[in-house]
Amino acid sequence: MKKWFALLSLALCALTLSACGGGAGAKGSGGSPAPKAETPAKKEAAPAGKRALVVYFSRADENYNVGYIEKGNTKILAEMIAEATGADTFEIKPAKPYPKEYTPATEVAKKEKNDNARPEIVGAMPDVSGYDVIFLGYPIWWGDLPMPCYTFFDKVKLAGKTVAPFCTHEGSGLSGTDGYIAKATGAKVAEALEMKGTTAQKSRDEAKKEVLAWLQKLGYLK
Ligand SMILES: Cc1cc2nc3c(=O)[nH]c(=O)nc-3n(C[C@H](O)[C@H](O)[C@H](O)COP(=O)(O)O)c2cc1C
Repeated sequence: MKKWFALLSLALCALTLSACGGGAGAKGSGGSPAPKAETPAKKEAAPAGKRALVVYFSRADENYNVGYIEKGNTKILAEMIAEATGADTFEIKPAKPYPKEYTPATEVAKKEKNDNARPEIVGAMPDVSGYDVIFLGYPIWWGDLPMPCYTFFDKVKLAGKTVAPFCTHEGSGLSGTDGYIAKATGAKVAEALEMKGTTAQKSRDEAKKEVLAWLQKLGYLK
């Protein structure tokens, strides 16, 4: 079976330098007016006096090594984090859904990365001013964050905020995305959590243990 890191190194040869999502100049997001700030779904508890928001992107349907799934791998971790910390949640949703089949989805994503695109995302963006920490979740796509995350960064200013990244992948690890986030947002980036998507999807007890250990280390358990 093809491994992601082998695929990725081939693909990276084909990418132009300017295609790197990690900090390249933003393209316009389509010129639509900024919608009014949304108040994310509220929870009652707060982690040790801190207000936390979980922002995540995740794709269900067919994925690598897991077949067709109802809930994306990263979303599973996002829900664990929200439950453990009492954080509010906000999902980054693309206006145009990705193909349900895995290979066509990878092709769309590769083109978006090559083009340094900023795919439209739906809904009102959250007002992050009242949050002490933003947990930011995403799958690794072509060694980077999915491009809708960069659309989110263009719309929601995270400079000076503390961002704690968590990602799922199938072999590439964090792929330097903590650095890409720092560069794209100007946020203070905390130690990230990376986990195989198959672990999140199929070994939930193990996944939860890792999530709780990470939250404990960062001091964000409620
Ligand atoms: C478009 C696309 C690109 C991907 N690129 C990579 C990659 O570069 N490295 C890797 O290890 N896994 C890669 N994967 C696998 C995903 O990172 C992994 O399945 C992840 O857990 C999916 O999370 P989600 O269900 O929350 O979207 C890719 C998957 C897709 C659909």
